[in-house]
Amino acid sequence: MKIAVIIPAAGMSTRFNGSGTDADLLGMGRSKLDEDLGGKTVLQRTIELFNTHEEVFQIIVAGPYDPEAMTLFKLRHGDRLNLLGAELVIGGQDHRWQSVQAAIQSVKDEATHIAIHDAARPATPPELIDRVFDAAARFDAVIPAIPVSDTLKRVSSESIDDQSEADPLAAILGAGESNPMHEVVGGVDRADVVMVQTPQVFKKDLLMRAYQQEDLTSTDDAGLIERLGELVVRVKGDPRNMKLTIAVDLPILRAVMNVHSTKQRSLHKRF
Ligand code: CTP
Ligand code: MG
Repeated sequence: MKIAVIIPAAGMSTRFNGSGTDADLLGMGRSKLDEDLGGKTVLQRTIELFNTHEEVFQIIVAGPYDPEAMTLFKLRHGDRLNLLGAELVIGGQDHRWQSVQAAIQSVKDEATHIAIHDAARPATPPELIDRVFDAAARFDAVIPAIPVSDTLKRVSSESIDDQSEADPLAAILGAGESNPMHEVVGGVDRADVVMVQTPQVFKKDLLMRAYQQEDLTSTDDAGLIERLGELVVRVKGDPRNMKLTIAVDLPILRAVMNVHSTKQRSLHKRF
């Protein structure tokens, strides 16, 4: 296999920054990919999962769509990307699939497979990557996924109207604790579902075909293969392969990776 790895890194880190904060309202939220994991950024850690893998011959990072954000992204990550041999392309404005779609254009002809891995998953154990790659030698579409440990329920999409408690001014200013309540409408058998992770690996031609469909709405790439009616094979994921999504994920991620933030490291190890 000759694998091209696409790393979508064009997201806005909205949930990481929380909503309603001043920074968020001004569009100044911090990129979660810039966060420090033991002296390296989240993005660097993610690229390093792949850059020495013998089956990987190309790494494409999809950075921010917004030109100003892209300039900052290059300042923060450009040198490191060069050193690690990763190419940078402009990602999608609104959706992850747009970033993947943009990056696919840069995949070299000699690639036989395309792996897609969230930039926000820097803690993927190498044995998980090997497990997915090994399965990809036998099946054209492979994804890792883990069982669900919590009980699952369906809730109404509309929140229960609770005007009595609402402070309209606070709502406009984005201040105050928002506490939406929803009606519980039924259960979901957790034995029937799994939580999907990345890297997802596809035979190149199959992924290219999936991305030629009209409707590309999806939060992962396997969804587009399923839409084609083609087989997607699940292998065992790993709970350590967590995605940095909200702020509390960061200390958990550091613990999982056994690294400290720069501030916690002794001075002589900071640079
Ligand atoms: N992503 C991307 N292009 C987008 C949106 C997301 O490349 N237009 C990337 C993110 O950078 C991330 C991965 O897809 O590495 C998974 O997305 P997610 O965890 O949702 O990150 P964000 O979209 O940045 O976060 P949020 O949804 O909270 O804004
Ligand atoms: Mg997102």
